[in-house]
Amino acid sequence: MSKLEGLLRTHHCGELRAEHEGQEVTLCGWVNKNRDLGGLHFIDLRDKYGLTQLGFTDFKGDLEILKKCHLESVIKAKGVVRKRPAEALNKNMPTGEVELSVTELELLSGSDINNIPFLPHGAIEATEDNKLKYRYLDLRTSKLQEMLKLRSDVTLAVRNTMVSEGFVEVETPVLYKSTPEGARDYIVPSRVHPGHVYALPQSPQTLKQLLMIGGTDKYFQICKCFRDEDLRADRQPEFTQIDIEVSYTTETYIKNLVTKLVRNLFKLDESYEIPVMSYADAMRDYGCDKPDVRFGLKQHVVTELFEGTEFGVFANAIKSGGMIKTMFVPAQMGTFSRKVLDGFVDVVKPHGGKGVAFFKVEDSKASGGISKFITEDILTKLSGLEEQTQAGTWLFFADEESVVHSSADALRRHLGKELNLIGEGYKFLWVNNFPLFEYDDGRFYAMHHPFTMVNESQLEDYMNADMTDPNGPLKDLCAQAYDLVCNGYEIGGGSIRIHNQDVQERMFELLGMSEEEVKSQFGFFIEALKYGTPPHGGLAFGLDRLVMILAGTDNIRDVIAFPKTTTASDMMSSAPSIPATEQTDELHFSFKK
Ligand code: AMO
Repeated sequence: MSKLEGLLRTHHCGELRAEHEGQEVTLCGWVNKNRDLGGLHFIDLRDKYGLTQLGFTDFKGDLEILKKCHLESVIKAKGVVRKRPAEALNKNMPTGEVELSVTELELLSGSDINNIPFLPHGAIEATEDNKLKYRYLDLRTSKLQEMLKLRSDVTLAVRNTMVSEGFVEVETPVLYKSTPEGARDYIVPSRVHPGHVYALPQSPQTLKQLLMIGGTDKYFQICKCFRDEDLRADRQPEFTQIDIEVSYTTETYIKNLVTKLVRNLFKLDESYEIPVMSYADAMRDYGCDKPDVRFGLKQHVVTELFEGTEFGVFANAIKSGGMIKTMFVPAQMGTFSRKVLDGFVDVVKPHGGKGVAFFKVEDSKASGGISKFITEDILTKLSGLEEQTQAGTWLFFADEESVVHSSADALRRHLGKELNLIGEGYKFLWVNNFPLFEYDDGRFYAMHHPFTMVNESQLEDYMNADMTDPNGPLKDLCAQAYDLVCNGYEIGGGSIRIHNQDVQERMFELLGMSEEEVKSQFGFFIEALKYGTPPHGGLAFGLDRLVMILAGTDNIRDVIAFPKTTTASDMMSSAPSIPATEQTDELHFSFKK
């Protein structure tokens, strides 16, 4: 069967060339342009494949119909392909050598041109809100159609690679139980069980581990995950993961597999290897665990250098156990006016920063900003940190450690863009040696998720250390976890898992969960670990972020057919919406007013 058999059209609008001359064809599409040049009519007909000019000199029907063919109407045109005369050739159009001389025209679906909110290919510009509210119109643009195609190509390539490596794609439930990944759950009330809810999975983490216990050996799935968390340009409340789990694996196998996938998807050389950076080095040099290593501007921790300083901000930070970091911008990379320097506070404010101290160097002499606190000795030591320090600007961040890191990271990323430092291409990185726990508000939290295995050599400390001591051995435990970073985005994360019941129970204990809580939330999982669990591990890629990077955009919304806004709403359907009373009654819940 030909690809077009059974369709209303014989060709698409990007297809006709001079060699089709004389053929009778039928095209369908949207009216992109409708021109009446005093008796000579032309329509540019558009579908996702291109544009073809329609002419009407051979048209036997009533030309009045053309007046109803408003922009974005859908029409069907039958006619004969004619070569255009030399003066009418259009070199900018792939179909520009020909036109379809229409003999029959049918208006399949009109367009309300007076009310259409914008024209995807035309003069009426769209606001960002309207693009989301009328996403189906925006989807008519080639940009979004190319994105859908790219996404489809990526998922196909992933499936091909995974299947050829012996993996089986298994679907897991969406109506499930809480799967802790650090966000809030979306929950769904049950009609059949009054007062009970399902949770939508934040990831299929426990399910893929249960598949290993169930003998699946090599699992993957391209699946939806749901997380109720604060949204950002690279976060959506529902997103897609390429989820992977393998029995009897080591970190090396997972890394080799991921490298193979990355080489395929990003069309990299067969010999390409992904460099590795420890979490501690990433935090020290870049202030974050997903550094964009396409440019320099590394940071330095200089707390000790300012011990005894008279500069109040630094002295206070040191007194309260905080940190001081610096970053040097050589003059050839960029120089800053006072106004720009003062404006850096706005970059760090969202991260808790209160300001960015600075001084300038020219001919190795300090001036401006905090220069009066910069002694000869300090200047010499600072100069020793970088290669080129003859002229430039030293920027400083002083506060509690987490604020310093995220402020320095934010300003570094800001300068990377502002000073055009970011090179072309893709820079990948494995970040590993993550701490197992973070300590906050008097308790330990799992840095990845609570199924992550501690480094084998630290198992004894893990099982026995005093869990009330935030500065004891628990703080130094390292996870067998690894994140995949590309161009400053975390595009994947995974770990070797706990496969023994007592080690898993200890994790829940360390996280401050009572026996009752563990039993009700994870009883089924703990029990499953009792009946023979192969050691296993895996990883999940964020598919949306992966496609976002491949598509060269910096907003995840651009690569999702129907995305949500930063307030987690769907502007098109107005979801979320207030349910009907019959529905809430049936589901046995009522809203708190
Ligand atoms: P993690 O929570 O690191 O790990 O998620 C894996 C990857 O999913 C992507 N991601 C997101 N993408 C868009 N919007 C979001 N809200 C969002 N949250 C996460 C990121 C991230 O690297 N179960 C573990 C994986 C494992 O251990 O195997 C997990 O979900 O690219």
